[in-house]
Amino acid sequence: MKHIFYIVAISLIGISFTSCSNDIMRKPNVRYMAATDMYTSVGYETYATNPNFKNGVGAQLPVAGTIFRGEIPYEIPDTNEGYLLAKETLKSPLETNDVNLAKGKALFTINCAICHGDKGDGQGILVQREKVLGIPNYKDREITEGSIYHVIMYGRNMMGSHASQLKDNERWEIVQYVEKLRTDLLPQNTSNN
Ligand code: HEC
Repeated sequence: MKHIFYIVAISLIGISFTSCSNDIMRKPNVRYMAATDMYTSVGYETYATNPNFKNGVGAQLPVAGTIFRGEIPYEIPDTNEGYLLAKETLKSPLETNDVNLAKGKALFTINCAICHGDKGDGQGILVQREKVLGIPNYKDREITEGSIYHVIMYGRNMMGSHASQLKDNERWEIVQYVEKLRTDLLPQNTSNN
């Protein structure tokens, strides 16, 4: 029994010495299949050329006609006719409820309030600091759920598109909240504000 104890003790001391050896620290260990790309991968820069692609471009665009999983393509074009079509025919797939309104409010505060103001009256912080002009009060615009969605997708005049920042359902949540803001701003509802 004693022997085993000595053997274990001596081997442990031995191991602890070897693990501190400088030699081992400096030299890399044995590398299997060292010649493959798995150890030293070729790090192509995003915007540099890349010979693996036919056109030699590093940053490839998605294949034409493909869409993100879960994303529904928006077919209405960015034209005046498209705007009118969206205004009259496009309907929200979401039901109006407190959960959607709360999400819409949060997203509106992040993405829109800086110009449009928390109440949608066109008095966002950028307007107060005179950084942007021409922000309408929602009550002065004949907007519908379809037209609001369309404007989020494409922007309008001085307003840029917000399509890339927001997912489809997030856009509709904001639409729902903008409609609520507008209703609250209309003259018949302002008295109790
Ligand atoms: C950089 C400032 C800015 C931001 C941010 C912004 N807007 Fe606008 N928005 C504008 C301006 C300017 C107009 C007036 C465009 C026009 O009709 O000439 C406008 C107009 C609108 C209109 C009325 C369009 C119509 O059909 O008459 C809606 C609705 C609207 N914005 C919604 C939004 C929503 C929703 C967001 C956030 C997702 C947003 N905006 C973010 C500047 C902004």
